[in-house]
Amino acid sequence: MTANNPAQRLALCGDILHFLRDPGWGEDATDAVHFEPDGWLLIEAGRVHAVRAASDPPDASWPRQDWRGHLLLPGFIDPHVHAPQLDVIASYGAALLDWLERYTFPAEARYADPEQSRQGAERFLHALLEHGTTAAMVFATVHKTSSEALFAAAQRLGMRLITGKVLMDRNCPANLRDDVAQAEADCEDLIARWHGVDRLAYAVTPRFAATSSPEQLAMAGGLLQRHAQRAGGLYMQTHVAENRDEVRWIAGLFPDSRSYLDVYDRHGLLTRRSMLAHGIWLDDTDRARMAQVGSSIAFSPSSNLFLGSGLFDWAQAESARVGVAPASDVGGGTSLCQLRTLTDGYKVLALQGQRLTAWQGLYAVTRGAARALELEHEIGHFAPGTLADVVVWRWAMGTVQHRRQDMARSLHERLFAWMLLADERNVAATYVQGRLLYSTP
Ligand code: GUN
Ligand code: ZN
Repeated sequence: MTANNPAQRLALCGDILHFLRDPGWGEDATDAVHFEPDGWLLIEAGRVHAVRAASDPPDASWPRQDWRGHLLLPGFIDPHVHAPQLDVIASYGAALLDWLERYTFPAEARYADPEQSRQGAERFLHALLEHGTTAAMVFATVHKTSSEALFAAAQRLGMRLITGKVLMDRNCPANLRDDVAQAEADCEDLIARWHGVDRLAYAVTPRFAATSSPEQLAMAGGLLQRHAQRAGGLYMQTHVAENRDEVRWIAGLFPDSRSYLDVYDRHGLLTRRSMLAHGIWLDDTDRARMAQVGSSIAFSPSSNLFLGSGLFDWAQAESARVGVAPASDVGGGTSLCQLRTLTDGYKVLALQGQRLTAWQGLYAVTRGAARALELEHEIGHFAPGTLADVVVWRWAMGTVQHRRQDMARSLHERLFAWMLLADERNVAATYVQGRLLYSTP
């Protein structure tokens, strides 16, 4: 910020909404929701200083940006997304295993080139900001250079990013295959240089059990164990039980394991910092185990619908006390916008007689996701001291959204309609650590 603003102060004015705790699943969540119409979000040196009511404006030492008539939310968090798959988002006509062969692997092969990786990382992170997402847990490709590029670009932007080199040493094209020794050396180097640096963290990233040998999975588990004390520990991200053909394949590859999840468990890959995408075809024993170790599921409804994978049962996960965080899973998913994830999530749950409230949906993509990633001290809400990752949203764009907003009688009705109808075109501005990184006219 400028020399005449030495304290790096900024006051944003608008309709501020964030969650003080998990709102549960009811429509009435008044004590968990903090809504401050025309309120003041005070930011100092990149951190939230306070949220104040309209009647309590800051003094003249706080430069102001007036977003009255807009909705101010903590930046959304995407706990499972593939950076290189922006290149194949919305590719026609395949279920998971075909889709990987036909579209995904060829696209990822291009990221062997450091310049492609650099440009791809910049494009991807700017796309996240355009879609109202300020933090993410991201799959790179098997190439070291692709995670290197993501770390470097996120560092320049000041973003919270968790990523890692994909591990794949079998059942994939030769140009995407690593081996245990080289993969381990690459991971160690990336961990040493990036894990715990600024807002960056390393995720050990076996793509899924089909593409890693037992030796590679054991190496991955060894990394988690070896670095368990380093900056809170490494993360782990992978896929599990997404598609029924995939589940059968894994059973054949690992005949000694009780289940797909058990493959990961036996190799020491389940921790409080493990984020497993999908989990549609888990059983009760799997869910109980996930709850016991504190691993979370990235619920990816857009991807699950697009690839025809199945319907994730959130109520079942909730009753087993497994943490769930909605994710875009681009490019299996068809949008980076977490509002679209929630809209698809609402419909997936409705097919099973479940109802996603606006409270639970918006909590889950902010504070809930932060909690699942052990980042609640840093992001996902506006408590003083958290980093000021803030997105300014238009309440309505176009005739239909305006009319629906005009007709809404309660705050929940208003927010629910907004969650279902708004998308990235509603983003007016995105701030990371109080710095304006994206805005639309
Ligand atoms: N399983 C293994 N790789 C992938 C991937 O890239 N996307 C999805 N949706 N599932 C996977
Ligand atoms: Zn995925």
